[in-house]
Amino acid sequence: MEMIELKPETMIGKGLHRECYVHPDNPNRCIKVVVLRGEEETRREQAYYKFLQKRQITWEMLPQFYGVESTSMGPGAVFDLIRDADGEVGKTFEYYFESAELTEKNLIGLLTSLQALKTYLFSQNIITMSIKPKNIIYQRQDERSGVAVIIDNIGNSDAIPLASHCRTFGKIKMTRKWNKFIALLQKDYSENSLLQTQLVNKLLD
Ligand SMILES: Nc1ncnc2c1ncn2[C@@H]1O[C@H](COP(=O)(O)OP(=O)(O)OP(=O)(O)O)[C@@H](O)[C@H]1O
Ligand SMILES: [Mg+2]
Repeated sequence: MEMIELKPETMIGKGLHRECYVHPDNPNRCIKVVVLRGEEETRREQAYYKFLQKRQITWEMLPQFYGVESTSMGPGAVFDLIRDADGEVGKTFEYYFESAELTEKNLIGLLTSLQALKTYLFSQNIITMSIKPKNIIYQRQDERSGVAVIIDNIGNSDAIPLASHCRTFGKIKMTRKWNKFIALLQKDYSENSLLQTQLVNKLLD
């Protein structure tokens, strides 16, 4: 197979370890390349994806993984690229919660989709590392609705990954991760008063 040339202007986001580009052959897929010490996380992510693929989960709130292609920046992992209903690349919950205005405009959809994400993760027994707002995309449908899609940091780093194989342990682990996520939202967006009151009302059960 031919090597994929990644152009700087097609970059859609960057984290601490990876850069994410639009796939030049398919606008609905993205390619992630490691730019700083992310090999171990990438290996764990791909192993966990293989495990989920075998289990035949539904992919409503998780991008599918399509394997690795060689690129001008090294090996690139190919995933669904999450786009809003209007075709724009989806923005993270961090982006929405940093703005009181965007939170207010999209409040119902943001909170309803997070509640649905929690239900999804628990019902499919999907295990994550820390859950962070920068790693969840709000796939905006319209003013009142959207889907929360988790794009990074799934998997289990335990030496003996009981939670991955046993729902009871999975539920215990994910309850802890979810509660930490809510606590993080309370700490990092303490100035977003609308978010804070709604968190207490809707997401603290
Ligand atoms: N499937 C996707 N669809 C749309 N945008 C995405 C997708 N995956 C990643 N992005 C964008 O690219 C950014 C970086 O991707 P990602 O979070 O996977 O990198 P990372 O370096 O592993 O992050 P971290 O700093 O959390 O370790 C995301 O914050 C998001 O803005
Ligand atoms: Mg990330």
